[in-house]
Amino acid sequence: MPSSATLHFSDRVAIVTGAGSGIGHATTVALAEAGARVLGVGRRKEALEQTARAHSNIEILPLDICAEGAAATVVTAAVERWGRLDLLVNNAGVTAVMPLAETDRSVITNLFELNVTAPSLLAHAALPHLRKSSGSIVNVSSTYGHRPMPGGAHYAATKSAMEQLTRSWALELAPEGIRVNAVAPGPTKTDVLAAAGLPDHTVDEMYTFERERIPTGRLGDPREVADWILRIADPRGTHVTGQVLTVDGGLELI
Ligand SMILES: NC(=O)c1ccc[n+]([C@@H]2O[C@H](COP(=O)([O-])OP(=O)(O)OC[C@H]3O[C@@H](n4cnc5c(N)ncnc54)[C@H](OP(=O)(O)O)[C@@H]3O)[C@@H](O)[C@H]2O)c1
Repeated sequence: MPSSATLHFSDRVAIVTGAGSGIGHATTVALAEAGARVLGVGRRKEALEQTARAHSNIEILPLDICAEGAAATVVTAAVERWGRLDLLVNNAGVTAVMPLAETDRSVITNLFELNVTAPSLLAHAALPHLRKSSGSIVNVSSTYGHRPMPGGAHYAATKSAMEQLTRSWALELAPEGIRVNAVAPGPTKTDVLAAAGLPDHTVDEMYTFERERIPTGRLGDPREVADWILRIADPRGTHVTGQVLTVDGGLELI
């Protein structure tokens, strides 16, 4: 158990999207361990249930955040359970390998729906409650939100959009005491590539390629990304807003 000195999220309420796996799972558990009550959202009920088993502060809501009315449903669920909302972690996202020569309208639409539109609507629905709590939003971007990604331009474009939303909302909401930041992971060992439909051998090849390029010589771990999400969301960090914190072993520098 963490000591009370580390429980910076005691009595705070958070929503984490994509809570059933990878970075979202790690963030949900870390927030709960830091004292927050957390609503974990995602489509797969079983994956969410596994996350919820990690801590009694975690409740779950299985749902597709791209569905009509989902943002209001998610925010209402958290506020009805706990009476407030302090933090929205817009983590759910998907990637896609799609060179320009293979452009497909439905891939573009799905990427932007999940990575840009759904988090925007969640932030909109959360806003009245974040105003009351002087809360914050953490958007999960990527190294490729500010680096080019040959073969994945549209994924990179969605994350670039996320970073611009972060900065613009930060300026818009600073006078109201709401902070908006982003954490941009580099290649991190999760299910993200499998979720993009890539076969195991391609995933292994991509991880090997990335590992060789990353200056620290290793892939990221979802728990260390979660750790930085908590640090930038820490309610004591009232002067940090509009920032994109890259957690990628220096990959963005090369
Ligand atoms: N891993 C990396 O290398 C890396 C690098 C940079 C950025 N990121 C970003 O980090 C974030 C988390 O990804 P991850 O690496 O942890 O991969 P992941 O394990 O595939 O997590 C993505 C999560 O999003 C959820 N999700 C997908 N579509 C959804 C929908 N329509 N409604 C609700 N939830 C949905 C998934 O749950 P369900 O399938 O159950 O819905 C899943 O839990 C993403 O935004 C990703 O772009 C990852």
